[in-house]
Amino acid sequence: MTTTDTTGTALAEALARAFAGHFGHDADGVWQAPGRVNLIGEHTDYNDGLVLPFAINRTTTVAVAARADRTVRLASAFAGADPVEFDLDTFTPDQAAGWSAYPAGVAWELERAGITVPGFDLFVSSDVPVGAGLSSSAALECAVALALSDLTGAGLGRADLAAIGRRAENNVVGAPTGIMDQSASMLGTRDCAVYLDCRDLSSRPVPLGLEESGLLCLVIDTKVSHAHATGGYAERRSSCVQGARAMGVGALRDLDAADLPRAERILDDVPFRRVRHIVTENERVARTAELLATHGPLAIGELLDASHRSMRDDFEISCPELNLAVDAARAGGAIGARMTGGGFGGSAIALVPVDDADRARTAVLAGFAARGLRVPDIFAVLPAEGARRL
Ligand code: GLA
Repeated sequence: MTTTDTTGTALAEALARAFAGHFGHDADGVWQAPGRVNLIGEHTDYNDGLVLPFAINRTTTVAVAARADRTVRLASAFAGADPVEFDLDTFTPDQAAGWSAYPAGVAWELERAGITVPGFDLFVSSDVPVGAGLSSSAALECAVALALSDLTGAGLGRADLAAIGRRAENNVVGAPTGIMDQSASMLGTRDCAVYLDCRDLSSRPVPLGLEESGLLCLVIDTKVSHAHATGGYAERRSSCVQGARAMGVGALRDLDAADLPRAERILDDVPFRRVRHIVTENERVARTAELLATHGPLAIGELLDASHRSMRDDFEISCPELNLAVDAARAGGAIGARMTGGGFGGSAIALVPVDDADRARTAVLAGFAARGLRVPDIFAVLPAEGARRL
């Protein structure tokens, strides 16, 4: 629906009807925010570094009505998700569970930022696959943040709303993530990626020109699940902090390629490779943005491949399914491919000439079938605009 219904009218009407059917009264409005893929720049965000994600035409949509009291009621079109109810006056982060932690977290963080949030009824639907590394959580946070900012008249700017979403994720959901996903969801513009400097939070749109260059961006969802609240993500994050400390800098952003020989001398092999990934990845992001501006997307394939190798070999956040997806897509005609997002599962992206899309898809499916792996989900995404009121 989201690819053809560009104004979102049909979707907004359907969701408003679902809201009214569930709650027995009308919504005040309908808001939508996209998921994202990251073109390049992985695990650089929490190192004060550079990222280049784009918002995609997969979205989460919320119909919301403010209430006169402080009760929050959450319902969804997700199969098997029970409605949730709580009171803003007594809510604490440890009560948050499941998908309701995202909207609850946003309301909680808005209040902590000094904005009084009324109780509200909310109905959500989404076509961002959950657990695929496409930031379904940021999409939900950003849709709710924009809705509550509008409904309270707080009128927060997009960067501030992204920060609220990220704090909800860190402090209420409990995932120690950076600012990339929410920024992509809030700041995305059609046909562009968001070049974001995660130190000063300056950003600019970078035209991708995929269509003009005859390219498609395929997502290959390996269906291997990842969980960022625990495990590898947090471990990588703390090794980056330690690496920066050992190198005597505030963040790995402060290092460049000229520092790597010293890093190799003073760090053990594993911490050194973690540092090398961040340093080289920041350089790849800057170079990708440059090449997009000067030569267009056909020129960035090698950088995507190099990014994947760095995540596979140095940062060690890939997995066999992601490596297979990347290798098979390349063998099937992709000009460049890499895992995207936090890693340990989720999705890969591949830039594929339109005429080779079927061949690439077939190559990936054949590779997975030959190894007896779960059938991956393969679909094209378009660089789309960020969160909005429908
Ligand atoms: C997840 C996090 C982001 C970022 C990526 C890795 O998507 O939410 O903040 O760290 O992983 O680049």
